[in-house]
Amino acid sequence: MYPIQRNRRLRCNETIRALLREHSLSPDDFIVPLFIIDGKQEKEKIHSMPGYFRMSTDVLSSHVKVLWSLGLKSVLLFVKIPDALKDNKGTEAINPDGLMQRAIKTIKNAVPNMIVMTDVALDPYSSFGHDGIVEEGKILNDPTVNVLSKMALSHAQAGADVIAPSDMMDGRILKIRQHLEEESFTDTIIMSYSAKYASNFYGPFRDALSSAPGFGDKKTYQMDFKNRKEALIETRRDIEEGADIIMVKPGLAYLDIIRDLKNNVDAPVAAYQVSGEYAMLKAAAKKGWLDHDKIMIEQLFSFKRAGASIIATYFAEEAVKLI
Ligand code: PBG
Repeated sequence: MYPIQRNRRLRCNETIRALLREHSLSPDDFIVPLFIIDGKQEKEKIHSMPGYFRMSTDVLSSHVKVLWSLGLKSVLLFVKIPDALKDNKGTEAINPDGLMQRAIKTIKNAVPNMIVMTDVALDPYSSFGHDGIVEEGKILNDPTVNVLSKMALSHAQAGADVIAPSDMMDGRILKIRQHLEEESFTDTIIMSYSAKYASNFYGPFRDALSSAPGFGDKKTYQMDFKNRKEALIETRRDIEEGADIIMVKPGLAYLDIIRDLKNNVDAPVAAYQVSGEYAMLKAAAKKGWLDHDKIMIEQLFSFKRAGASIIATYFAEEAVKLI
């Protein structure tokens, strides 16, 4: 009680504040998402993600060396493929010489110790822009899970360390885990997007990959953002099915969910600060309305405080230069 206790004593100078600081940020905390395209010496701007690029695999090769030199040791890969290669079966997703499979090998050649994580979902490969196989306007669960398990195996065969299913089909973690075990990929890590919401924050990402749904929305598979308990149900099931790391997505608007998972499950919790979150700060900073660097760092700390031990963020490269 005041004046016996004065809270400001513990805030009186920077040294004492540093001594008592509960959280820190390090390059080890970050996953860098990367967008890959075919071609030579291609580095394409993404309109709604200023400062972010799609790159061809030769550019990728030198880029990952730069990331490694900054202390960034994990990348999460997404590919943009031409419409002509898209269908309703994920044919290109399981092509051993597909863009994703080649990108994985490129990185492993350039920086062998880089942790390569791959997005597993059909949307970049789907003529309907959906994460699964479509029939009569419905997204089929079990046939999709079948393809996803083959896709995950082909990523592991190409050299991926971590498989990151972002599709939200039921039972996909179990099927992927079983398939990896059968084929002796016993050390492949599964990082499940276990609590992935049907969010409006993914817009810029869908621009980046031209992967917006061709009809309807993703609400029959991604979670309703009005719900909280559902995140725990999804996550517990994914862990039972064999997920090693679980993820909450988007990030900032879902810090409550990160904390719920941190308090209720033992698996490491990752947060994905998504494209819309990146775009908002870039836009406000460009207008001179917010201090870009200070807000960026504040937001990244909020993930740590909420309970995330891993942060996937488009700010990783900018952030490591400041911490
Ligand atoms: C694909 C996928 C999406 C994102 C990551 N993986 C888009 C979606 O589900 O529509 C979004 C990432 C971002 O917005 O940064 N399933």
